[in-house]
Amino acid sequence: MKTCAVYPGSFDPITNGHIDIIDRGLKLFDTIIIAILYNPAKKSFFTINERIDMIEQSLKQFSDKIEIDSFDGLLVNYAAQKKATAVLRGMRAVSDFEYEFQMALMNRKLNKNIQTVFLMTGLKWIFTSSSIIKEAARFGGDIDNMVPDYVNKKIKEKFNKKHTPLNT
Ligand code: COA
Repeated sequence: MKTCAVYPGSFDPITNGHIDIIDRGLKLFDTIIIAILYNPAKKSFFTINERIDMIEQSLKQFSDKIEIDSFDGLLVNYAAQKKATAVLRGMRAVSDFEYEFQMALMNRKLNKNIQTVFLMTGLKWIFTSSSIIKEAARFGGDIDNMVPDYVNKKIKEKFNKKHTPLNT
């Protein structure tokens, strides 16, 4: 039987830290569904379609093993609907632990058949996040090694358009 995990998140935008988790996750699972949370309450920098495009362009090497999708509502319901048996999450610093622990326990209470699997984020990415990378780019900082080239280009394009607020 093929194993499938959902890797959920905002991916606003995808970073090299996320890609590191996907790369290593694919050593554990046959397929990973990268699922972008559609949350109208959270202001995003990139639209869902822009985020899907950036993920597609950045993960071409894994195209036969990944699916890119968006979802709203409960993660465990989405995972069950997709017949995934696990939720994949990256753990960065200690600060992530409490929130991730709480979410994993709640998800298990909601659906005992779906397991949360944590991978330690690569050392290089421990202190990065989509917001901090956007913030650095906004003020002209070098983000070359933090995001794929295509994402870097899209971030710069967005900031070059007049009146684009950071919104995160
Ligand atoms: N490397 C670098 N950065 C990483 C990373 C990694 N490996 N993993 C996460 N991050 C960063 C992200 O870039 C993001 O940064 P940002 O806040 O600046 O955008 C931050 O960590 C948060 O990570 P993310 O994975 O996007 O989490 P989230 O909190 O936005 O979303 C969901 C988490 C989607 C899993 C969760 O909200 C969810 O499941 N929602 C659906 C409702 C539900 O079922 N809730 C649970 C039960 S009630």
